[in-house]
Amino acid sequence: MASMSRRRQIYEGKAKVLFEGPEPGTLVQYFKDDAAAQQKRGTITGKGVLNNRISEYLMTKLNELGVQTHFVRRLNMREQLVREVEIIPLQVVVRNVAAGSLATRLGIAEGTQLPRSIVEYYYKSEPLHDPMVSEEHITAFGWASTQDLDDMMAMALRVNDFLSGLFLGVGIRLVDFKLEFGRLWNNDEMRIIIADEISPDSCRLWDIKTNDKMDKDRFREDLGQVEEAYQEVARRLGILPEGGPADLKGPKTMQ
Ligand SMILES: Nc1ncnc2c1ncn2[C@@H]1O[C@H](COP(=O)(O)OP(=O)(O)O)[C@@H](O)[C@H]1O
Ligand SMILES: [Mg+2]
Repeated sequence: MASMSRRRQIYEGKAKVLFEGPEPGTLVQYFKDDAAAQQKRGTITGKGVLNNRISEYLMTKLNELGVQTHFVRRLNMREQLVREVEIIPLQVVVRNVAAGSLATRLGIAEGTQLPRSIVEYYYKSEPLHDPMVSEEHITAFGWASTQDLDDMMAMALRVNDFLSGLFLGVGIRLVDFKLEFGRLWNNDEMRIIIADEISPDSCRLWDIKTNDKMDKDRFREDLGQVEEAYQEVARRLGILPEGGPADLKGPKTMQ
């Protein structure tokens, strides 16, 4: 990737690499095929290309709706230009249906519809494995203020309403998802916006009819056909080009 070597690398995570952007206050987010879940490591061929496109699609819609995100534009198959933010060290999880750690910890059968949407916070810390934290921990340790939490909760619920409807329209149940937020400074004014990615790596997506998993759980649980599931999400959203992910060149190729 020519653009990869041109730019200065800022950070390499499990699924993405961040490079210095072309203008101050911007970054280039490069989507890898690498997948990680607790101790498990692997690659999902074509995942980076699909997540780049899916996240572009969803964040563009959110921006249009007035829910601000870091997304600026897609640059090529694996890279997108984003606004650089100060990441708030929290993962904000919204749940509609019991699955994953909620099902395990509280002994609720996977697939149980929750009485209402539940928002949870996890502290972003690799060595600690992202432990769940409460508002008390978050405010006491200064990760975010009560006002910040109100803002993040309100945005997360708007994203949930929007995404739930969007996915339902293409036969997919939005079981849960994770958001990351960052601070954007404009002189002395601070705004919180959505950062990172929104993709089958960060959402649980189940087929509405069969309950088939169409997300990273296929990798976590060794269910196979992981790449196919990500492709199917893109196809249903109407953003998979005729020739498959390899046809996803630049922003111009797609409308
Ligand atoms: N707009 C942004 N500005 C600064 N950092 C960001 C932005 N968007 C995402 N990040 C951070 O970049 C990293 C993305 O790479 P990823 O592979 O997901 O990392 P990780 O393995 O830490 O989850 C994450 O740590 C995420 O918090
Ligand atoms: Mg990540």
